[in-house]
Amino acid sequence: MGSSPWATRPPFRRWAYLVLFIIALVCIVPFHSSTFLSSVFLQSSPQEFARRSQILSKCAYIRSKPGPPPNFHDRTQSDRYADSENTPPVLVRNATIWTAANDGHEVLNGDLLIHRGLIKAIGNVPLSLIRQVESKHGKLEVVDVHGAWVTPGIVDLHSHIGVGSVPELNGASDTNSRKAPILPWLRSIDGLNTHDASYELAIAGGVTTAQILPGSANDIGGQAFIMKLRPTAERSPSSMLLEPPYTLNGSHFDHSLTPRWRHMKHACGENPSRVYGMTRLDSGWNFRAAYDSARKLRDAQDDFCAKAESNSWDDLAGNAFPEDLQWESLVDVLRGRVRLSVHCYEAVDLDGIVRLTNEFEFPVASFHHAGETYLVPDLLKKTWGGTPAIALFASNFRKKREAYRGSEFAPRVLAEHGIDVVMKSDHPVVNSRYLLHEAAQAHYYGLNPALALLSVTYTPATAMGMGHRIGMLKAGYDADVVIWSSHPLSLAATPTQVYIDGIPQLSHPGRHVAKGPTTSPRTPDFDSEKVAAVAHEGIPPLEPRSVKGALFVNVSGLYMRGGGSTGVARISEKVGSVGVEDGRVVCVSQCSDFAQGAADIVDLEGGTITPGLTSFGAPLGLVEIRLEPSTNDGSVYNPLDGDLPAILGDTIMRAQDGLMFGGQNLLLAYRGGVTTAITAPSGTFLQGVSTAFSPGAAHANVKNASVVDEVALHVGISMSSRIGVSTQIAALRNMLFGEGGDKVLRRVRKGKITLVVDVESADIMATLLRLKDEYEAHSGRELRMTFAGATEAHLLAYEIARAGVSVIVTQSKPFPSTWEQRRILAGPPITQESLVTALLKAGVNVAIGVIDEYNARNTRFEAGWFLLTSNGFIDRATALALATTNLEKALGVQREMPQDLVAYRGGDVFEFEAKVVGVISETLGRTDLFV
Ligand SMILES: *[C@@H]1O[C@H](CO)[C@@H](O)[C@H](O)[C@H]1NC(C)=O
Ligand SMILES: *[C@@H]1O[C@H](CO)[C@@H](O)[C@H](O)[C@H]1NC(C)=O
Ligand SMILES: *[C@@H]1O[C@H](CO)[C@@H](O)[C@H](O)[C@H]1NC(C)=O
Ligand SMILES: *[C@@H]1O[C@H](CO)[C@@H](O)[C@H](O)[C@H]1NC(C)=O
Repeated sequence: MGSSPWATRPPFRRWAYLVLFIIALVCIVPFHSSTFLSSVFLQSSPQEFARRSQILSKCAYIRSKPGPPPNFHDRTQSDRYADSENTPPVLVRNATIWTAANDGHEVLNGDLLIHRGLIKAIGNVPLSLIRQVESKHGKLEVVDVHGAWVTPGIVDLHSHIGVGSVPELNGASDTNSRKAPILPWLRSIDGLNTHDASYELAIAGGVTTAQILPGSANDIGGQAFIMKLRPTAERSPSSMLLEPPYTLNGSHFDHSLTPRWRHMKHACGENPSRVYGMTRLDSGWNFRAAYDSARKLRDAQDDFCAKAESNSWDDLAGNAFPEDLQWESLVDVLRGRVRLSVHCYEAVDLDGIVRLTNEFEFPVASFHHAGETYLVPDLLKKTWGGTPAIALFASNFRKKREAYRGSEFAPRVLAEHGIDVVMKSDHPVVNSRYLLHEAAQAHYYGLNPALALLSVTYTPATAMGMGHRIGMLKAGYDADVVIWSSHPLSLAATPTQVYIDGIPQLSHPGRHVAKGPTTSPRTPDFDSEKVAAVAHEGIPPLEPRSVKGALFVNVSGLYMRGGGSTGVARISEKVGSVGVEDGRVVCVSQCSDFAQGAADIVDLEGGTITPGLTSFGAPLGLVEIRLEPSTNDGSVYNPLDGDLPAILGDTIMRAQDGLMFGGQNLLLAYRGGVTTAITAPSGTFLQGVSTAFSPGAAHANVKNASVVDEVALHVGISMSSRIGVSTQIAALRNMLFGEGGDKVLRRVRKGKITLVVDVESADIMATLLRLKDEYEAHSGRELRMTFAGATEAHLLAYEIARAGVSVIVTQSKPFPSTWEQRRILAGPPITQESLVTALLKAGVNVAIGVIDEYNARNTRFEAGWFLLTSNGFIDRATALALATTNLEKALGVQREMPQDLVAYRGGDVFEFEAKVVGVISETLGRTDLFV
């Protein structure tokens, strides 16, 4: 930590305090009873005097409210200003500055002066001030951003960065303790690792500050800490902390200082229940028992202080100030000196916590995950001490029962009830590098733009008690500043530079980033969807309204499959109207006859009709609630585990046999423009045979519900498996070189269907390429092979291209979760290339997929991500091909795919703009409308 005005104050303050105390004694004594004199001073030894004054100062301290010290805004240098890093003063010129002030409505066109870790001036920076800084510190570094958007650094209210290791390693998995459900005495700082691949990535996404919460395995998991993500000269975890509470290093600190905020995590619901084999009933009692202990300690302290302050020292003779290291932090919660973050999803849990706050009278700063908060706004308002902020994901729902009713409309609904909305990462659950992307999604689904930007800046800063110095761009605030490539709410907004404490964090500012749209995306109207989400308590009916024919009017463009180098061709622009019947286009532009019919007329408001997308990678149709086995198909047997039941023989499992239709993830994907899902069975090593089907079908026996019964054979080769990699490769080799076995395997051997290998490591890919060569030389036949996942594929892109192997990239936003993924190609602004552009340039057939079933609906935005971050290398037809023709080629789909089309209303398909309003399904022979 650097030296700040108030951090250097303690010696002076202590001295001043004593003088004031003595002056007070001298002044007060003549007017007060002699008891005071005799008890505090006259009859006590110097030691007793010191003890008593210490007690009195402690009693005053425990009741004082945390916050910045009164002179905080007089500071001329940040306590975090690092002289040793030789930070030059910077003038950011010609910026469009979203300051967060005026409830998020203030935008200044002008400059920003950064000096000594602080924002010195903003908007119109006076020349005199620039001269003054220059005269003392030499030339300013001037950064002309040519009108680019500038925002405060992104603030993450919920992160586990540094405490859970990335890549995952057993040696640093310190997010949770599993010792007991109630652990208020634990502190996340004790597990905070500075060696973590996430820091650089998060900063590259503009994240500058994060609250490091313990995990949710416990009802009370422990104390949280706020940190800035930049590396420090000291390299220690402690030196990364922002305003750590003075209690951090013991009880010996200056009690005359204004206390700093403390932070703590609570969690209710499924997670603690799962870890401790408890129920919600147990958790409820755990909380009450813990708060009862804290309350008793607090009352004992208050009694003690009341006696001390009324000079009843004789009553206290021989008694020490009541303390208990295990409960002191929870006492501070009761005293309103802790910013509490409560992980809580369902109405039942929220109600329990709201009751708890009223029983024990303590405030909650924020509810996290909070899937059902939008359904119970009035309950939230009953929280003791005021309505907490609500910290949400944008679209990561349904993974477990308590998340099943989560809604993309929650941010908007809460905001409409006047409740503060925060978007959070829960890093690494959502890679915090893309926290702003969560806010942009919330905006797409109807949160107003000012609140969307506030949700990752000033609102979380305030919720963590740091609103006096971060989350806003204002003279005197910390110089945490991000310069963006485009409007920050546009789909692929990417920082071109990030300052933390005035220190630039990107080594190649701006070099890898293409300029995007500078205006806010024109978001669609989701009013009726929002109303339905609330009316149906998060499980709105998602089935389409199927019609025989429809007329789409005000259509600006029509793309269809077939033709062009990508297999996707634009038929015409400014087509005006498109008539469809039985799932086929029957007229374009000249639809006057058609319009006479009784068909539905759907205004696309200048939108387009585009081929439906194909989804791959997520277990769509096999998984509904991932953590509820009874809602899923389950895992297939792993023959390498040796416990294969005899009845299965050589059989390889088929995804088609386990398909379930009508699930929320499936229907949301359909409503997101996914007209074909290709799903492989879930398993390790030998996964089984994938199937292609229509997400819009009501059940498996609907005509054409199955598009291709058996698509490809899937295996996974992973270093994270219990069985060694060389054993897995040996097993695969034996499968290929052997004879007999399942008929799918025999077709793979004949080069008739594709072998898709889930593989991340470049080394394993190299081995697989050798195996392919070996097999082809031996058999004289082609082995059709595709890599899926393939995070490290850029390292051997040319070899993959030469081998004719396709790659399906399933992480559009690369993240080194595991060791075998650690050599990611991070993409802009860290590297020029993304995995997709690097592979395309090498001549590989590249496609994209997603991993999580909730994310299948976002396939279109993933394609848009690659389009917009490719620096112009990828065109729109190629972006579309990534999730259609290239994917089908990679999986070896052998039929001509049906001409399923998606009608988008308004705006750009590859931005957070257009909305899917219909599917023209040749597959199902009908048109499905969502309006
Ligand atoms: C700011 O940048 C924009 C875009 O490059 C340019 O048109 C404008 O003239 C610049 N304004 C100033 C004051 O330099
Ligand atoms: C104790 O913690 C405070 C922050 O709360 C810090 O400023 C101070 O340097 C620490 N003291 C020691 C001895 O580490
Ligand atoms: C098409 O929609 C756009 C956007 O709503 C609108 O401005 C335009 O007037 C419409 N054109 C026609 C012909 O309806
Ligand atoms: C089913 O698929 C076939 C082949 O693509 C197609 O000809 C037919 O129109 C589709 N739809 C129905 C309802 O049969």
